[in-house]
Amino acid sequence: DVVDVRSLTGKGLFTYDPGFVSTAATESAITYIDGAAGVLLHRGYPIDQLAEKSDYLETCYLLLHGELPDAAQKETFVSTIKNHTMVHEQLSHFFNGFRRDAHPMAVMCGVVGALSAFYHDSLDIHDEHSRMVSAHRLIAKMPTLAAMVYKYSIGQPFMYPQNDLGYAENFLHMMFNTPCEEKKISPVLAKAMDRIFLLHADHEQNASTSTVRLAGSTGANPFACIASGIAALWGPAHGGANEAVLNMLNEIGDESNIDKFIAKAKDKEDPFRLMGFGHRVYKNFDPRAKVMKQTCDEVLAELGMEDDPLLKIAMKLEKIATEDEYFVKRGLYPNVDFYSGIILKAIGIPTEMFTVIFATGRTPGWIAHWNEMISGNYRIGRPRQLYTGYAKRDYPG
Ligand code: ACO
Repeated sequence: DVVDVRSLTGKGLFTYDPGFVSTAATESAITYIDGAAGVLLHRGYPIDQLAEKSDYLETCYLLLHGELPDAAQKETFVSTIKNHTMVHEQLSHFFNGFRRDAHPMAVMCGVVGALSAFYHDSLDIHDEHSRMVSAHRLIAKMPTLAAMVYKYSIGQPFMYPQNDLGYAENFLHMMFNTPCEEKKISPVLAKAMDRIFLLHADHEQNASTSTVRLAGSTGANPFACIASGIAALWGPAHGGANEAVLNMLNEIGDESNIDKFIAKAKDKEDPFRLMGFGHRVYKNFDPRAKVMKQTCDEVLAELGMEDDPLLKIAMKLEKIATEDEYFVKRGLYPNVDFYSGIILKAIGIPTEMFTVIFATGRTPGWIAHWNEMISGNYRIGRPRQLYTGYAKRDYPG
């Protein structure tokens, strides 16, 4: 049952819902999730069908515009995105202000926020064309910035985007090629990367998207709003989980230690949780995880890594946990981050970059929600509180 409290406020009703477990903050026509059935639809299309038949940029178009593009619309969209892949040359100097050992997400919060200092001409949030230009800029520049963050951290020169390459292929080119050596990117790895971006593209009102909406409700510009989403995504309970999964697998270290870690995760006195397991909404298998697992198998076969010790620990952990009564009873299944971490590691992406890749993939979802809010009727988001502090008291003396 849905109670619309707008008609009841002012009549004495006050709701208290920590963690927003059963409070809708908005209406939205972008993404539908049925957590019990394990269903995820973007604009009505099931995620597994999009993963199989569509690609990341087409899904970006779908999220932003509400319909799949026809062939001409897709061609125009792809070429518009390609037109925007470079970042202002001055922005590359901005990186020098960061320590090279800074966490890539720390640098991303800064450089994405700084886009608003470079692209003033698309900051008019009340103009639809201006909003779309910002959307295209963000989708196009995120992989470029993500790769720059990585290159800066290892002291290699930045690679310019190559616009004759596909979106994910271009990202891997900027990450792994150098001016001295340009290798052809494996189509299997490029496809897997595209799928990782696609599977992360949107997930309705999760913590980072809600943060983007809340920031946007004040009238803040889109680049600042996306930077706030990146900050919210960083935590290990959200986008930081894929990095935490790999750290956990390293800590487990050997298949013989798995049982010890499972016992730790079940121990209520111990704050440890099995990273990459469980979800606020899905109490059944995350439909994205199913596709991710299949992609994971393809990538490991392509790279001949089926026997990688860390990956073997992951596969055994998954098997043990999904058969354990504690996890089954609570509906705790591997989430999208469990497998994405394994794929990214196999591709050669360092662990600290995992959440940056999540942020890159999630960008169209953040913008689609921001744009949906700004183009409709909205009010500033202003949660209330249940005050638990002192009653009024006099200053001593
Ligand atoms: N390991 C062990 N126990 C867990 C785990 C886990 N990963 N997740 C939840 N539980 C247990 C809780 O201890 C609780 O048990 P109880 O009922 O006996 O007290 C029960 O399952 C319900 O957990 P909640 O914390 O109430 O679930 P909530 O919806 O608030 O949290 C969350 C969801 C944050 C994803 C949680 O499952 C978790 O911390 N998972 C690990 C981190 C992770 O993988 N995050 C990625 C989320 S997906 C994403 O952002 C793309």
